[in-house]
Amino acid sequence: MASPGRGPTPLSPTAVASRLRAAGCVFAEDEARLLMEGAATPAQLEEMVEHRVQGFPLEHVLGWSEFCGVRVLVEPGVFVPRGRTEFLVDEAVRGIPAGAVVVDLCCGSGAIGAALQARTAGMDLHCSDLDPAAVRCARRNVEPAGGRVYEGDLLAPLPRSLRGRVDVLVVNAPYVPTAEIATLPREARLHETRLALDGGPDGLDILRRVAAAAPTWLGPAGRVLAETSEAQSPRLAAVFRAAGLQTRVSRSAELEATVVTGSRTA
Ligand SMILES: C[S@@+](CC[C@H](N)C(=O)[O-])C[C@H]1O[C@@H](n2cnc3c(N)ncnc32)[C@H](O)[C@@H]1O
Repeated sequence: MASPGRGPTPLSPTAVASRLRAAGCVFAEDEARLLMEGAATPAQLEEMVEHRVQGFPLEHVLGWSEFCGVRVLVEPGVFVPRGRTEFLVDEAVRGIPAGAVVVDLCCGSGAIGAALQARTAGMDLHCSDLDPAAVRCARRNVEPAGGRVYEGDLLAPLPRSLRGRVDVLVVNAPYVPTAEIATLPREARLHETRLALDGGPDGLDILRRVAAAAPTWLGPAGRVLAETSEAQSPRLAAVFRAAGLQTRVSRSAELEATVVTGSRTA
């Protein structure tokens, strides 16, 4: 906080922004404002600024991330929802029936599920993730609006009563090929779990398992939608076709996002 008449103190907005800028934060003024709004005390602000200067992701320092206009709680270590994934939400809500049964697999913080809850009325949302910290966040993010969150491997922890009834199965699984993990930005490599990033040799290990299981869980008009890279999308589409699904690849140039959709009917 500024002391009137004495110029900037270490906790003034200007001082916070210049520390952040010196540490390489491109949007230093915006980040300084968010940190100052988020800190309850000067001591907490000092701690938050220090963590950010050390390279912790802004979202982990603040404890939340904005995704599709929804404030999603994100604990340290949990995958920070990416802007490009808003395209997956846009594709998932298209033609979604009222009261749809929706599954958000590999849900992380539950960002996708929470965004879908905000956009569609009365949906029956079920989320799952293998990481207990992610499950903890997802519970805080989707349970207040009636969603359920399960801890475990892909579809295994979901209630069997959902089999053959899922209208929309949405998945942003880890899809980075193992050899490319080393090229990711530092914040991802150091502050998100390998479990959240590593998709195996060609990036599709998890999505192959999802494709194999999806037909058992989808309802007659159900769809499975997966985010992928543009380069991987033809291979993922072939994986979905081999699982007996009608396939469509959609691309947002603006968000640099690609989604492969598999449907039980055309
Ligand atoms: C790329 S992150 C995406 C998180 C979230 N869907 C989002 O878009 O913000 C992938 C998530 O998959 C989870 N995961 C990895 N392998 C899994 C598995 N076999 N079963 C369930 N979740 C898994 C990770 O813990 C991580 O939270």
